[in-house]
Amino acid sequence: MSTRIALYPGSFDPITLGHLNIIRRAARVFDKIIVCVMVNSSKTPLFTLEERVELIERTVSRLGNVEVESSDGLLVKHAKEVGANVIIKGLRAVSDFDWEFQMALANKVIEPEIETLFMTSSSKYTYLSSTVVREMARHDASIDEFVPREIIQDILNKVNQK
Ligand code: PNS
Repeated sequence: MSTRIALYPGSFDPITLGHLNIIRRAARVFDKIIVCVMVNSSKTPLFTLEERVELIERTVSRLGNVEVESSDGLLVKHAKEVGANVIIKGLRAVSDFDWEFQMALANKVIEPEIETLFMTSSSKYTYLSSTVVREMARHDASIDEFVPREIIQDILNKVNQK
């Protein structure tokens, strides 16, 4: 059987415990997970692509079958280039569904052989988003419950230097 490689794309600005939960669970289902930091043209990022990759690498270093990379291209084209036949998306609530469904269908038109699979977020993290993290950090609230321990200081440093 061929190696099952899944691409997990997102802005990850920054990675949250909700993202990490999806990565851990997906890593048990697939042979290899490629976490790909991508450009969402409707968002202005806090961290550069390279910084986001480095933050994620630090948090997944103990997961043997997870790789991290970035791309400023089209998601499905990139998935094909790296040999991933599955795209993983996390769904927190019904509000995520409309846009994700639209993207999955559009992506399927461009690359019909690549499947988008949705994973439900853990109920612990349904409220959580990178936007919540950035907003809390900007207002000096604790982000300890939201992001991996290893990257807390980087986020605080970044919001304070802006
Ligand atoms: O974490 P996000 O911001 O919800 O992730 C969205 C992301 C980056 C996966 C999406 O914007 C994306 O796929 N960007 C790459 C460019 C692309 O393929 N756009 C077409 C989507 S129909």
